[in-house]
Amino acid sequence: MVAAWARSLSESSYDLVVQQLIPGYASLARLSVALLAASPLAASPGAAVLVAGCGTGAELLEARGQRPDWQLTAIDPAAEMLVVARRRLEEAGPDGPPGARPAIRWRQSTVEDLDAQAAFDGALSVLVLQSLADDGSKLAFLTALARSLKPGGQLVLVDLMRSERSPLQAQVEQAWLSFQAASGLKAAAEAFDALSHGLHPIGLARLTALVNAAGFSDPALIFKALAVEGFLLQRRA
Ligand SMILES: C[S@@+](CC[C@H](N)C(=O)[O-])C[C@H]1O[C@@H](n2cnc3c(N)ncnc32)[C@H](O)[C@@H]1O
Repeated sequence: MVAAWARSLSESSYDLVVQQLIPGYASLARLSVALLAASPLAASPGAAVLVAGCGTGAELLEARGQRPDWQLTAIDPAAEMLVVARRRLEEAGPDGPPGARPAIRWRQSTVEDLDAQAAFDGALSVLVLQSLADDGSKLAFLTALARSLKPGGQLVLVDLMRSERSPLQAQVEQAWLSFQAASGLKAAAEAFDALSHGLHPIGLARLTALVNAAGFSDPALIFKALAVEGFLLQRRA
């Protein structure tokens, strides 16, 4: 259930390696939060926002910076990720006085096990869906996310996607490895193989079918760097 590649990294190396792997990763959390903050429901002061699969806390840190008023719920099934995220957020500054900066609610849970019916005005899920098999697990995850949102609530979903086949694909893949090597990733090809083991990327048509079945509108593309794509989705009323 938990992403093998995320678990295989020691907590401190995750943040470095993910930046070496994904072009533009450093801006992803910033963009994701900015998008959600512009959504009709999450724009309201004190909006309730779910960070699903918070990992080491990149989206939480960014949300704290851009929208200190948000009531954040951070969930992740991996205890070791929650420990790192909590420490990182504490180091960034204590929760402020009551009312100014609500304390983050931390839950060790998957989205599927979170009992939250229409509790959130918005949600972020960055690099999580890719680790679930397309055997009903992806649909269960997306359905649980939709259920946790109020009607009209929006989700920013970022994931590794299956690349379209093209005669130039081999060159694109080679360039991605070169990007990783130039970013300092040791033995980029081997590291990439090891880390991508256990991931289940899907194409856009399949993603659209799954999110529609889960209760979301069609995905709007908001980010693309090689095979990593981000989408804005809205829970249907
Ligand atoms: C690759 S990390 C991404 C972390 C963070 N969002 C980021 O972009 O840096 C994926 C995280 O999703 C968590 N995860 C895996 N399955 C999940 C599920 N069903 N519900 C919630 N989180 C899940 C993993 O434990 C892991 O911490």
